[in-house]
Amino acid sequence: MQFRNNTCLGLWALLIATARCQCNGISSLTTSYATPIAGDGWSAALIANGLSGARSILFDSNGALLVVRSGTGIVHLTFTDGGGTCLEVANTTYLVNSTTLNHGIALSADGNTLYASSSEAVYSWAYDPAAVTVSGTNKTLISGMSNDDHTTRTLLMSQKQPGTLIVSRGSNSNIDVEAESLSSGHSQIRAFNVDNVTDTPYEFTTSGRLLGWGLRNSVGVAEEPLTGGIYSVENSADEIQRNGTDIHQNNPGEEMNFHGTLSSTDNQGGNYGYPNCFAVWNTSIPDAGSLTVGSQMTIDATGNASITDAYCASTAVSPRLTFQAHMAPLDIIFLPNGTEAYVTFHGSWDRTAPVGYKVAAIAFNNGQPVAASDSLTATTDIFVNTDNANCPDSCFRPVGLALDQKQRLFMSSDATGEIYVLAKTGASSGAATGTGSAPSPTATHSAAARWELGGMMWLLTVLVIVGSL
Ligand SMILES: *[C@@H]1O[C@H](CO)[C@@H](O)[C@H](O)[C@H]1NC(C)=O
Ligand SMILES: *[C@@H]1O[C@H](CO)[C@@H](O)[C@H](O)[C@H]1NC(C)=O
Ligand SMILES: *[C@@H]1O[C@H](CO)[C@@H](O)[C@H](O)[C@H]1NC(C)=O
Ligand SMILES: *[C@@H]1O[C@H](CO)[C@@H](O)[C@H](O)[C@H]1NC(C)=O
Ligand SMILES: *[C@@H]1O[C@H](CO)[C@@H](O)[C@H](O)[C@H]1NC(C)=O
Ligand SMILES: *[C@@H]1O[C@H](CO)[C@@H](O)[C@H](O)[C@H]1NC(C)=O
Ligand SMILES: *[C@@H]1O[C@H](CO)[C@@H](O)[C@H](O)[C@H]1NC(C)=O
Ligand SMILES: *[C@@H]1O[C@H](CO)[C@@H](O)[C@H](O)[C@H]1NC(C)=O
Repeated sequence: MQFRNNTCLGLWALLIATARCQCNGISSLTTSYATPIAGDGWSAALIANGLSGARSILFDSNGALLVVRSGTGIVHLTFTDGGGTCLEVANTTYLVNSTTLNHGIALSADGNTLYASSSEAVYSWAYDPAAVTVSGTNKTLISGMSNDDHTTRTLLMSQKQPGTLIVSRGSNSNIDVEAESLSSGHSQIRAFNVDNVTDTPYEFTTSGRLLGWGLRNSVGVAEEPLTGGIYSVENSADEIQRNGTDIHQNNPGEEMNFHGTLSSTDNQGGNYGYPNCFAVWNTSIPDAGSLTVGSQMTIDATGNASITDAYCASTAVSPRLTFQAHMAPLDIIFLPNGTEAYVTFHGSWDRTAPVGYKVAAIAFNNGQPVAASDSLTATTDIFVNTDNANCPDSCFRPVGLALDQKQRLFMSSDATGEIYVLAKTGASSGAATGTGSAPSPTATHSAAARWELGGMMWLLTVLVIVGSL
């Protein structure tokens, strides 16, 4: 476990001023809460703050980080980069000021069109990443998405099929009976060709290609880079009962669902259960029968006696993975080599002991998660708060993820207005070999050796300069 402040523990760090050894004078920021902990094989640093409401983040084609601040707009950040986790904000530019943009952001394949969403619509602007400017006017591409409660509209530009924008829309309440009807447009993920939009925007509910419905609030969406598989992570229901018994502390599970690829309609467009059927996390429930982790179960949510476990099993698409109830997954992103996905868990409110409030890794192989669909241990924590008992008040709350060219992982926290960077300190991670476990201690040692070598070179340089005077 290490944080940037702890990475210079070698002999040379004792000889050389710690901050200079680590980051060549790049200043580090401190948290107002207990310093978070990076998992084995990772180091982390807080690199930006003062960005309250920071939601989705995305790198542009010039390597600048675009941050959606809910209710504020889109901010463009450039960094002074000292390598590793040594980063410091250089320039902050307000690219789009808008009180309605609240979460979603995407860029065209050439990087010159910017897309962002409000609860109601998806807009585009011409974007000049070198000049750091957008067109004075926007174009509305997709509209008709307003509803209560779940108001984010996550955007994902396909890399496999450039020009296809995937849009995720949530439900209008905890148990939204309108979502039972496809024509409501609630709780659906759809894909749109945004290269050919006329002056009349697409109507979300009646246009595009249906990737899935019955998805309560699937805020995270990603395209697996090797196979093009579309995965989403879903925030499932609160306060549930089953047959009159309160089972909400450990059920239903949050879900990771699979929606096929854009190159075929296989495994696509199905109903994923909501608001009738939900994934089991904890099987200690009434009439569990043969239910296992990830089974679709009824919770009598709509008072319809024909919604039984058997009905759920035969009609609802089951998740590929299930996560602990109420952790609130908000983003998912894949490494370019497809060995791992990372997921942010914003954190729970609907259970006694807080859970989530972390970033986790999920091992993938050939486009599929390595863990079985009934696994309770598919996630490996890579960045956590020190003590979830202090959450939500004194904790970061992860939302957006982005990977830069060096495959460092950037994470936003809306509640604290912060951006963190995470970097692997070791060689290959355990997940690459399909175990899903954290990297070995050897990997951590080799990173420490690099830090010490860096310190030694610095000291030699000083000695040479001093000697030459
Ligand atoms: C920051 O902005 C200044 C002034 O526009 C520019 O000269 C400099 O290159 C920028 N630095 C970065 C890292 O973007
Ligand atoms: C957007 O807001 C920022 C910060 O309040 C301000 O500096 C900037 O001039 C505004 N930009 C536009 C285009 O209105
Ligand atoms: C898009 O442009 C319209 C018309 O000028 C404006 O009312 C609206 O606020 C803009 N939307 C965003 C998100 O900037
Ligand atoms: C854009 O192209 C898609 C096919 O990729 C088609 O379904 C859609 O109707 C077209 N939209 C318009 C506005 O022509
Ligand atoms: C399931 O619930 C039981 C009873 O509350 C508890 O003992 C057990 O630890 C829980 N297991 C999981 C995986 O949540
Ligand atoms: C609920 O309880 C009743 C009475 O014990 C039983 O017949 C029924 O199968 C149960 N339903 C579920 C979904 O477990
Ligand atoms: C109950 O659910 C069944 C199965 O989906 C459906 O056919 C029926 O219309 C529903 N009944 C009511 C009253 O909603
Ligand atoms: C996949 O990429 C990650 C991040 O760059 C790297 O650490 C890992 O070793 C790679 N795995 C394989 C099998 O190439």
